[in-house]
Amino acid sequence: MSENSSAIQSVLHETRTFPPSEEFSKHAIISSEEQYEQMWNRAKDDPAGFWGDIAQTELDWFKMYDSVMDGKMPNTKWFTGGKINVSYNCLDRHLTTWRKNKAAIIWEGETGEVRTFTYQQLHHEVCKFASVLDKLGVEAGDRVTLYMPMIPELAIAMLACARVGATHSIIFGGFSADAIADRNHDAQSKLVITADGGWRRGKEVPLKVNVDASMEKSPSVEKVIVVRRTGGDVNMQDGRDYWWHDLMEDAVADRECTHLDSEHPLFILYTSGSTGKPKGVLHTTAGYLLGTTMTSRWVFDLKAEDTYWCTADIGWITGHSYIVYGPLSNGATTMMYEGAPNWPDEGRFWEMIERHKVNIFYTAPTAIRAFIKWGDQWPEQHDLSSLRLLGTVGEPINPEAWMWYHKMIGAERCPIVDTWWQTETGGIMISPLPGVTATKPGSCTKPLPGVVPAIVTEKGEPLGPNEGGLLVMTQPWPHMLRTLYGDHERFVETYFAKFDGKYYFAGDGARKDEDGYYWVMGRVDDVLNVSGHRLSTMEIESALVSHESVAEAAVVGFPHDLKGEGICCFVIPKGEVASGDAAVAAQKELIAHVRNQIGAIATPDQIRFTSALPKTRSGKIMRRLLRDIAAGRESAGDTTTLEDYSVLAKLRDTDE
Ligand code: WTA
Repeated sequence: MSENSSAIQSVLHETRTFPPSEEFSKHAIISSEEQYEQMWNRAKDDPAGFWGDIAQTELDWFKMYDSVMDGKMPNTKWFTGGKINVSYNCLDRHLTTWRKNKAAIIWEGETGEVRTFTYQQLHHEVCKFASVLDKLGVEAGDRVTLYMPMIPELAIAMLACARVGATHSIIFGGFSADAIADRNHDAQSKLVITADGGWRRGKEVPLKVNVDASMEKSPSVEKVIVVRRTGGDVNMQDGRDYWWHDLMEDAVADRECTHLDSEHPLFILYTSGSTGKPKGVLHTTAGYLLGTTMTSRWVFDLKAEDTYWCTADIGWITGHSYIVYGPLSNGATTMMYEGAPNWPDEGRFWEMIERHKVNIFYTAPTAIRAFIKWGDQWPEQHDLSSLRLLGTVGEPINPEAWMWYHKMIGAERCPIVDTWWQTETGGIMISPLPGVTATKPGSCTKPLPGVVPAIVTEKGEPLGPNEGGLLVMTQPWPHMLRTLYGDHERFVETYFAKFDGKYYFAGDGARKDEDGYYWVMGRVDDVLNVSGHRLSTMEIESALVSHESVAEAAVVGFPHDLKGEGICCFVIPKGEVASGDAAVAAQKELIAHVRNQIGAIATPDQIRFTSALPKTRSGKIMRRLLRDIAAGRESAGDTTTLEDYSVLAKLRDTDE
């Protein structure tokens, strides 16, 4: 935990509870407290029996596994000896059922066009693109980078990679050329799939340009496939770049699934840690598929008849698990939207829910805060009566935002599932079950079957009810990360070393109340949660220091109305601390520099120039003090330089 705080104080005391309606519970997949408890206890006492039974009935195998789980945390293996394919489970197996001609994906572009793919049509496209991958020499185990807008081709590319056994690494479209190059290099990607651009708030987001700029520092990349989306001008390099539509034109849709080992690497997804470069979280095949399949079904009460919409971008884990793999494995209808929630106006999401009669809606607290700010008139104009379940993910939801969601969007009728999980956990870990759990606004409530968390001190000692501490997992689960790509040592060090390999350490602080409900209080490491996206303070600091004018930088978060956390950068310039217009110009330049190095998602909200930073005697920056200053009354973008830190230095003795 940071600095000298050994216990986390919780100030939130929420007493309202919202039980599910009898009607909802009656039709729910998990419908009673007894059923939940029986499942949870069995999974805790006999995890192999519990997961093994489900894996046999709920997944389709080419060859049944020999054992359910081997080894102990951190090195667990699941379903050893089994042969399976995720693409088969998400597509082929539905073709022999009534689901064959139902919608798998309903996609809406920002510009208004709608494309629907039935399971059969999606299967056809995926088979074709899988044969394109074959033709370009992509083999099982090769890494493929996807840097794409939210268009159906992204899902097709993922499923085609899974079909041939290529490991995909998706990079969110808000990342810069440098970030792409880093990730290409770390994963040693052979192929990049991108688009000319994508649409966002009426503007074209250039993608191919960024890929081009990343190529010099991506020596492993041999070929680039480009989807034509916006029709904008792009540079196509002969022998390296291919149009998606040209390759697909003569591709044949007869590509069977490769039979892959249960532990075959399905994807790498880079996420921020508290130190150094981004971590390549690696998920494998069977365990991840089982986890996302079951959690989609349990938490969203997902049925094949539902129209389900998760508003995340597929560039993040939420999109991987709950737009593509989980819903499709269940044979559900998953909606995908390309653009911004406020385009052409702030009613876009509600209009789409009405147009497509969406039943289940999964979004983020940061989006909910924006909806509240935009005003009730937007949802009020639309018929939202098709909705039956709401969800949130990404950060703690403030109880008032929860209440607004419950009243304005859910008409006090839809259960809300506040789902706690992480890129590393692969799937939802702690969440209400909508037909069972009486929810409390702001709490992600109880662990799902197979998840055995605890709240402990720095030393690993268990804490009692309502005592804030560190959130850990005491048992392995099938969909947990297996390693950090190319750096197993860092994997062990980051998640397991703190408690001698006994527990998985999530990096979050939490408490458990007297009813056994979990209340997550946020990160305890140097990771910011900006609009539900994890950003490392270290990465932003290195980006700042890489600018020629910067001597030292310290980055902290501060409470931000919409983003949850904003980014505040304290910067010691190499020369004099500028003031007035010169300071404003220097701030602009540094903001542009960080965007250039990491991407628009890391855009600083405040840059403050200073001649010194408060440090402990051992030289550690006293972030707590900086956080206090950042959260102070000065407005964002304020140009005042910080006071001399000799004043704060007096605090050194108490803060070490
Ligand atoms: C935070 C997103 C409170 C948490 C799926 C976690 C949450 C980090 C919740 C993971 C929630 C996610 N309540 N906090 N319901 N969901 N978080 O890897 O700090 O992008 O560690 O995965 O988001 O972010 P990640």
